[in-house]
Amino acid sequence: MRLPIIAGNWKMHKTIKEATEFVDKIKDQVVGTDVEVVLCVPYTSLEAVKKAVDGTNIKVGAQNMHWEENGAYTGEISSTMLREIGIDYCIIGHSERRQYFNETDETVNKKVHIALKHKINPILCVGETLEQREKNETDHVVKNQVMKALKDISAQQVKEIVIAYEPIWAIGTGKTATPQEANEVIFIIREGIKELYGEDICLEVRIQYGGSVKPSNVEEIMNQEDVDGALVGGASLDPEDFVKLVNF
Ligand code: PGA
Repeated sequence: MRLPIIAGNWKMHKTIKEATEFVDKIKDQVVGTDVEVVLCVPYTSLEAVKKAVDGTNIKVGAQNMHWEENGAYTGEISSTMLREIGIDYCIIGHSERRQYFNETDETVNKKVHIALKHKINPILCVGETLEQREKNETDHVVKNQVMKALKDISAQQVKEIVIAYEPIWAIGTGKTATPQEANEVIFIIREGIKELYGEDICLEVRIQYGGSVKPSNVEEIMNQEDVDGALVGGASLDPEDFVKLVNF
C-alpha cells in the first residue's frame, strides 16, 4: 500500500513571515489524514517552517540542492546544510531548473545520489514538452529521463524516491493532463522501474502527477490507479486551497 503524498511547491514565493502564517493556518486541518503532506519552500523559510510544523506530521522540503557536499560553488546550497536543519525532501530536476538553470539528466542523477546519501528523499521531476507530446514521444522521453536519473541507484534506495510526472505544457498554464493521460504515463514510468528493479520494488515506488492540480481536479487525478500523489505549484500557495488538496 503506497501512502498518498501531496506536496506543495512554492517556487519563489513567500517571505518567512508569510510562510509561517501559512503553516499556522493549515496545520490543524491537515492532520489525521492518510496522506503525507510536504511543503517545499524557499531556502530562506526552511528553518522557520521546520520549526512551525514541529509537533505535526507535515514534512518540509527544499526545491533544489547541489551535488557536492561543499566547495567553491557560489550561491549554491548542499545536502549537508539541508540535513542539518532536518529537511525531509528535496525537489530534484524540476522542469524550471532544467529550462532556466541548465540542469541535465547527469546533474539530476548526481543530485539524487547525494540527497539519498544524506537521507533526504528526492522528489524527482520528469516530463515532456508540448512538442514532444505532439510527436508522440512522451513515453520514450519520460522513461529515458527516469532511467538516467536512476543510474547506479540501488533497489533499496529507489524506494526512498518519489517520482513526479509533470508534463511541461501543464505547469502553470491551467492546462491539466486528463487524469487518464496522467495515469498512462505514470504506468509507463512504473513499468520502467519494474524493468530495472523488478515487480515488488516497482509497486513500492510512489509516483505523483504535477501540472495545474487544483481543488477542483485533485480527486479525479488521485483516483487513478497508478497516481500516488500530486506536486502542486500555484494552488499550494493559498492555505484554503492547500487544505482542500490534502483532504481530497
Ligand atoms: P502548477 O506547478 O501546479 O502551478 O502547474 C506544478 C509544479 O511546477 O510543480
